[in-house]
Amino acid sequence: MGSGIAQVAAASGAEVILHDREQKFVDRGLSVIGKNLDRAVEKGRLSQEQRGHIVGRIRPSTTLANFDVDIAIEAATEHLETKLELFRRLDDETPPEAILASNTSSISITILGAATSRAERVIGMHFMNPVPVMKLVEIIRGIATSQPTYDFTKTLAEKLDKTPVEVRDFPGFVSNRVLMPMINEAIYALYESVGSVESIDTVMKLGMNHPMGPLQLADFIGLDTCLAIMEVLHDGFADTKYRPCPLLKQYVAAGWLGKKSGRGFYQY
Ligand code: CAA
Repeated sequence: MGSGIAQVAAASGAEVILHDREQKFVDRGLSVIGKNLDRAVEKGRLSQEQRGHIVGRIRPSTTLANFDVDIAIEAATEHLETKLELFRRLDDETPPEAILASNTSSISITILGAATSRAERVIGMHFMNPVPVMKLVEIIRGIATSQPTYDFTKTLAEKLDKTPVEVRDFPGFVSNRVLMPMINEAIYALYESVGSVESIDTVMKLGMNHPMGPLQLADFIGLDTCLAIMEVLHDGFADTKYRPCPLLKQYVAAGWLGKKSGRGFYQY
């Protein structure tokens, strides 16, 4: 998702630093951006010149030292310790007035804020996948997030041609509190042999007009991410209605993580 965020930010005219731990991950992000932009050129929505300007505004980086930005948007793995470490580092390396935003799909913004010395400038900026296509950005206010931080982030989302929606910092926010139990329930329906993968997805696609069935969508999001989000809901609300399906746990244990690993509920 980081490359998608970098792409829409650069397309809006912003100067972007695309950071990852290793060059190969940065290269992968740049390659995805290049392919997306090529498709837009082929379809006549972008000129070669505009494509060049967008790419020219993205500076690749593998170091966070002296990270001179107005806002950093973190999009690391959905793993609390990883994000805490990154937020502490960003707190040390970015200018004190910079906003630190997280694209987390379920981790508490209040907890991330508390790991820094600037909780009032920490906020959730939750994009949807694929970022260049999906209009929503869920903006999550931690308990300490200030009004100027919220206003800046909302305006930025609009500049990126997205529709911001404000939500409060509760497990799963709104998007995944509603979406993930539906996906988990679809996995239970498979686990209990109520229907096959294809029949469950077809019911939801043709019956509810969803663009993708829930099992295909789970593969697309990543089954490890789905499990991490269900665990945040389960722990956060201490309610058994959010218990992750054992089949989801088994797939993740097997390394069947969906599209990114070549196998999930479907083969890729
Ligand atoms: N990156 C960039 N553009 C993409 C893309 C990608 N990965 N995938 C598709 N597109 C573009 C295509 O180029 C195409 O553009 P044009 O219309 O301009 O030609 C457009 O999207 C439609 O693509 P397709 O015709 O190939 O396929 P589609 O009609 O099936 O649409 C889809 C693809 C937009 C992904 C659609 O299937 C969809 O909306 N799926 C559901 C997506 C969804 O629910 N996302 C949220 C996931 S949850 C999340 O992200 C947050 C979380 O916390 C877990």
